[in-house]
Amino acid sequence: MNSDFARRRFLRYLAASPLFAAAHSLPAKAANEFWRDFTITSADQALDIFDLEKMAKDNVPPAHWASLIGGTEGDQDVLANRQGFAKFRIKPRRLVDTSKLDMSVTLFGRKWPTPIILDPVSRLNAFHPDGETAVAGAARKRDHLQVYATLATHPIDEVIAARGEPVWCQLYPTADWAITQGLIRKQEAAGCPVVMVTIDNPSTMGRVTAARGKQNDTRTCTDCHSTEPGGAYVRLPMFDGLDATKLTATTTNKLTWDLIPRLRDATRMKIILKGIMSAEDAALAVQHKVDGIVVSNHGGRSEESGLSTIEVLPEVVKAVGGRVPILIDSGFRRGSDIFKALALGATAVCVGRPYVWGLAAYGEAGVDRALQILTEEFKSAMISFGAPSIKAIDRSFLF
Ligand SMILES: Cc1cc2nc3c(=O)[nH]c(=O)nc-3n(C[C@H](O)[C@H](O)[C@H](O)COP(=O)(O)O)c2cc1C
Repeated sequence: MNSDFARRRFLRYLAASPLFAAAHSLPAKAANEFWRDFTITSADQALDIFDLEKMAKDNVPPAHWASLIGGTEGDQDVLANRQGFAKFRIKPRRLVDTSKLDMSVTLFGRKWPTPIILDPVSRLNAFHPDGETAVAGAARKRDHLQVYATLATHPIDEVIAARGEPVWCQLYPTADWAITQGLIRKQEAAGCPVVMVTIDNPSTMGRVTAARGKQNDTRTCTDCHSTEPGGAYVRLPMFDGLDATKLTATTTNKLTWDLIPRLRDATRMKIILKGIMSAEDAALAVQHKVDGIVVSNHGGRSEESGLSTIEVLPEVVKAVGGRVPILIDSGFRRGSDIFKALALGATAVCVGRPYVWGLAAYGEAGVDRALQILTEEFKSAMISFGAPSIKAIDRSFLF
């Protein structure tokens, strides 16, 4: 056997061996991760939500960026929210006519073209000077439901004018009932039909990433953040005319389920509880006659539980038994994520960071692009999986 023949035989042997195959197979990462090293120059070039995240990062100072992306402690719930989706897999159905696709959902008598809702996010002018008003412009263009945060930076009337119709509003029930009542009165006066009451934030501790961002920011926080009594709040428009000088936090660990009848007596708005993460609390919420719930862990910013919202959704759906609408948020980035939540029984899906990334990257055009991407991906999911309408998306799609 000459040496050339022996070498070729050896190489053939190597090529057939599993070791060789492993060494030359593609690394275990998704194909689209190979092209993350890029720059885009306009919102319309963003191909998915993560492109907007990447572009947003360069526009936002470190302290604000860290507060936007961070969670609590080791940020494990931020990760869990994304990883949770992998635990549910979808069985595609074939030969289903989806040519007249109906993506609409109805919430409290108002029909929306898609089940995609803009979550309340505080202090949006930290990400773009047009803040909530830019979000309203994009929500109006595509007819999405927008939820206005208690800690918003643009006045509610201005936002409603830009949206072209009343928005829903979010309420932090503070430890000071006079302030809480004052906030409710303002929301009602603005014409909000629904108040989303956030109950998942009894502690403001543990946001390590946000604190780290602050440490690594060279700017002086007090240049923008006031040090006067109640300074975090007194300059925000919802607190205009209310005495917030003694308010040190909008969250409190004093609240109990008594809150619900008190709120019911204080307002004619529909009441939705945001932050439900267990069947037990979902059952209590229904017992206390709320009008809806949001399964949420505040985008992984409430606690370090290791539990994603999508994982807890099935037990919540069971406990609620169809009596009130169930919204869900935290970690939704893809059309297929939305499809999974609806298949598990959610009525609609809210997003936070995805539209804020759009806002930070390109202002209103970026929010518009974020909504367009999510809508197109969800539409494509409905077609690919063979669901002609929202009603048709049920558990039979889950493997
Ligand atoms: C920077 C930031 C600020 C937020 N501010 C509020 C708020 O004021 N009130 C509230 O109920 N939720 C707030 N949230 C939580 C969102 O409403 C929503 O639950 C969360 O962002 C959903 O997760 P996602 O960002 O992964 O989509 C905030 C979230 C972020 C990222």
